[in-house]
Amino acid sequence: MAVTFTPLEPFGLEVTGASGGQLVDPRAAEKVRAALDEHGVVVYRGLDISDEDLVALSRLLGEVVSARTGEHRLPEIATITLDPAKTNTVLARYRKGNFLWHIDGATDELPQKATLLTAREVDPAGGDTEFVNTYLAYQELPEAEKAELEALRVVHSFANAQARAVPDASERERAAWEKVPAKIHPLVWTRRTGRKSLLLGATAGDVVGMDSEQGRALLEGLLERATRPERVLRHRWQPGDLVIWDNTGMLHRATPFEPTSLRLMHRTTLAGEEMVA
Ligand code: OGA
Ligand code: MN
Repeated sequence: MAVTFTPLEPFGLEVTGASGGQLVDPRAAEKVRAALDEHGVVVYRGLDISDEDLVALSRLLGEVVSARTGEHRLPEIATITLDPAKTNTVLARYRKGNFLWHIDGATDELPQKATLLTAREVDPAGGDTEFVNTYLAYQELPEAEKAELEALRVVHSFANAQARAVPDASERERAAWEKVPAKIHPLVWTRRTGRKSLLLGATAGDVVGMDSEQGRALLEGLLERATRPERVLRHRWQPGDLVIWDNTGMLHRATPFEPTSLRLMHRTTLAGEEMVA
């Protein structure tokens, strides 16, 4: 079958007709990397990549994060589901945070470089994945506002995200979240290449040196502008799809689905390569 490449709106690239095995090749991986740089999100329709090939492709793209949570026989693969019966119980509950706009690893020194997510079981009733491009969100700001935001630093914490995702949490759960160290990052992330993006999302709480409410309102306003409906790329999953995103610049979230849903994703993540600076 011929491989076709179609730019998506408002950003992203869709690839059809490729097979998982074809991508496990250094030259093919180089093209994936270039497509990610250019488009932010690359959607492979019906790729049907095996778990082994998903890990092999991930290794060609960067350093693969191993979680060893016992979720999957391959330590590089995370099983993304809300059903505790299909994964690690604690992780299933944490993954409610996936319903909120976030980037993966925002509380780490080096947020993860890219995420690869493939659909094993889909839910016809929901569970799409939405993306917004925070390089574009930054570019769209008026110059004076860009200059004002440049000096701001933001506290990111797991507790901020979970408090939003699980408002009914027990005191014990809250205490567990607080154990994950918070991280302060600049609001504007300038890459070695000079490219800039906004670092926002569910982990973001206070702006350093600003009144808490004022800081949160500022971030909320920026997030609202970045995630306007016309800026959102929405992926409606079919089994076998693989979506790869530049995690450093793509806020993403799952649209609602039930905890008992069949929906099951296999995910690998690539270790971060650049500090937020
Ligand atoms: C993730 C994530 C979204 C989804 O796995 O990091 O955000 O739609 N997933 O499952
Ligand atoms: Mn995520």
